Amino acid sequence: MPKEKASLYAVPRLKTFSAATLDKAIEKMLAAFDEESRNVSDDASWKEFRDRWLSRNNGLLSQVNDLWLKAAPKDAKREVGQRVNELKNEIESRVEETKNSLSAQPAQDDQLRHRDPLLAKAARSGAPSSSPGIDITLPGIKRSLGAEHPVIKTMNEIVSVFRDLGYSVEEGPEIETDFYNFEALNFPANHPARDTQDTLFIAEQESKASRDRLLLRTHTSPVQIRTMEKMQSPLRIVIPGKVHRNDAPDATHSPIFHQVEGLAVDTNITFSDLKGTLDHAMKALFGSSVKTRFYPSFFPFTEPSADVQISCIFCGGKGYRDGNRCPNCKASGWIELLGCGMVDPNVYGFVGYDSTKVSGFAFGMGVERIAILKYGVDDIQLFYQGDVRFLQQFL
Ligand code: PHE
Repeated sequence: MPKEKASLYAVPRLKTFSAATLDKAIEKMLAAFDEESRNVSDDASWKEFRDRWLSRNNGLLSQVNDLWLKAAPKDAKREVGQRVNELKNEIESRVEETKNSLSAQPAQDDQLRHRDPLLAKAARSGAPSSSPGIDITLPGIKRSLGAEHPVIKTMNEIVSVFRDLGYSVEEGPEIETDFYNFEALNFPANHPARDTQDTLFIAEQESKASRDRLLLRTHTSPVQIRTMEKMQSPLRIVIPGKVHRNDAPDATHSPIFHQVEGLAVDTNITFSDLKGTLDHAMKALFGSSVKTRFYPSFFPFTEPSADVQISCIFCGGKGYRDGNRCPNCKASGWIELLGCGMVDPNVYGFVGYDSTKVSGFAFGMGVERIAILKYGVDDIQLFYQGDVRFLQQFL
């Protein structure tokens, strides 16, 4: 046979299927592959080359399947199958590499070789076929896993305390109307109680009726109204979410923060139920030795209202630590944590509940404030700066 003709590689039939025969056959095939890949110079020749090797319809690899794998005797099938699979993967990835080296630097193979060993390998397709594609003895590149942000983690923890008590989760929009954020919660227009929540209003709403004007919700309480509008009593819900206030950022304030709200409405719910529920929740979050104290307060949508304080977790409620005044509770032994109260009958009026038949309680707590206490963080801004050194401590 003339030499030129013999140079076009064809998959041979194998006489034996020993490891040595396979090694030889594979080595020859890879050498032929490299030889041919050197002639690939553009897209069109690459396609032709790809089809010659990979085409399902009688491509060289499919011939390997027929001539080597199918022809192998039963006891050699497993071994041959494995080798054929490896070969397939190798050829497939080399075909891709050939393509990539085309698009990377079509006419500058030489430069490429000096600059970047990985790309150069692709470009140097005539390299000895025994050179490995990937050095599997090198350690892999570790991709670090993400983790829950401490604020979200705390929020989920609070939510699950109430889920365990049978509460379901409700959510609502961050862009709210004046009606849901204030009016239906019994904040009359121009009432000074609105001033306690410094509100960010959406611009150019003047043409709308005041109850329809849009604002960034200042608390999660509007979701109480939205839920009572769509569900009848009895209900028990927790509402996690983000809220906005026009507060300048400092160590204890952020214009965006998170709250978890709760609402329970049924017949014959009393202030004792509220006390028992929140006492349990605080013990679940801060440890069973924590005590709670309810201090008279005011919210337009609850009556009576209270601020809940917990015994200081830093000094154990003593007010003094190591002979010094406890800075965390300012030596009072108590830390104020959340607002709560019995749902004001006026609120039931806004959602069509019969205030002579139902009663209920509501509460709302700041998630960052709880996270700060739980983890001993001294600046709320750390939660928002995305510094991995800070965040990694909560993994
Ligand atoms: N929404 C109130 C606030 O953000 C907290 C609260 C919720 C108080 C529910 C009472 C009942 O300050």
